[in-house]
Amino acid sequence: MEHVLLVGEENTYLRRRGERVELQEGVLDAEKLDAPYGEKVETHIGEEFTVVKPDLNDLFERGLEQRTQTISHKDAGYIVARTGVGKDSTVAEAGTGSGFLTLTLARVAGEVRSYEVREDHLEAARENVEEVGADNVTLELRDVKQEGFNEEDDCDLVVLDMMHPEEALSHAVDATRPGGYVVCYCPVFEQVRDCVEMFDENGLRHVETVEISRREWRVFPARPEPQTVPHTAFLTLGRLVRV
Ligand SMILES: C[S@@+](CC[C@H](N)C(=O)[O-])C[C@H]1O[C@@H](n2cnc3c(N)ncnc32)[C@H](O)[C@@H]1O
Repeated sequence: MEHVLLVGEENTYLRRRGERVELQEGVLDAEKLDAPYGEKVETHIGEEFTVVKPDLNDLFERGLEQRTQTISHKDAGYIVARTGVGKDSTVAEAGTGSGFLTLTLARVAGEVRSYEVREDHLEAARENVEEVGADNVTLELRDVKQEGFNEEDDCDLVVLDMMHPEEALSHAVDATRPGGYVVCYCPVFEQVRDCVEMFDENGLRHVETVEISRREWRVFPARPEPQTVPHTAFLTLGRLVRV
């Protein structure tokens, strides 16, 4: 049964259609959860909720398993926009982690092949992929540093989000088509250097290393939100110019 978001005055809940639900604000019978999107429903004590179609972020925030640090929106968005992936693109990534980047990429790319070394992380990600119903994702248990990517991978983009991505760099290049991108997601700058030092010998042109800044603002009164995370990671992009 599909998920619905119940947006109330105070609280928002993620629930499934076809189930009777008990909320802090009262009970909603199963047929009320079958209401079309945008419609208001009332609990047995008269509290109103609007039925809204949840997006990927609603699912991640309220329903899906998060075992690892997930990539931030700003970084995932930049990777997608900067490398120009689209419905005709095949993308590979390691590690899968909780699958947030996997599922973000699955929304825009034709096919996503994701590799993860830890069985428990892979299982959790598999559940997340099934919950979302992303049928263009394949998940595989694999240590890409030792075993590399899959032989037939010939990707437009390969993303490495793991400790010491430089150790998987040559394998990532093997999985990339000429002209395709390899993106290394590095929380610390030493890893950036370690990656870039290996670019040339692997046929990669260093396109750029960037840190994407995001500052959230409180509107009334106008001032920056104190909780804004100042740093997530550096994104180092290489483009395969030589095979
Ligand atoms: C920070 S998480 C990735 C988060 C993910 N990008 C997301 O947005 O949900 C890093 C993952 O890389 C996996 N990993 C580490 N070394 C690996 C390797 N050699 N091959 C495949 N996966 C690896 C870890 O087990 C972990 O699940």
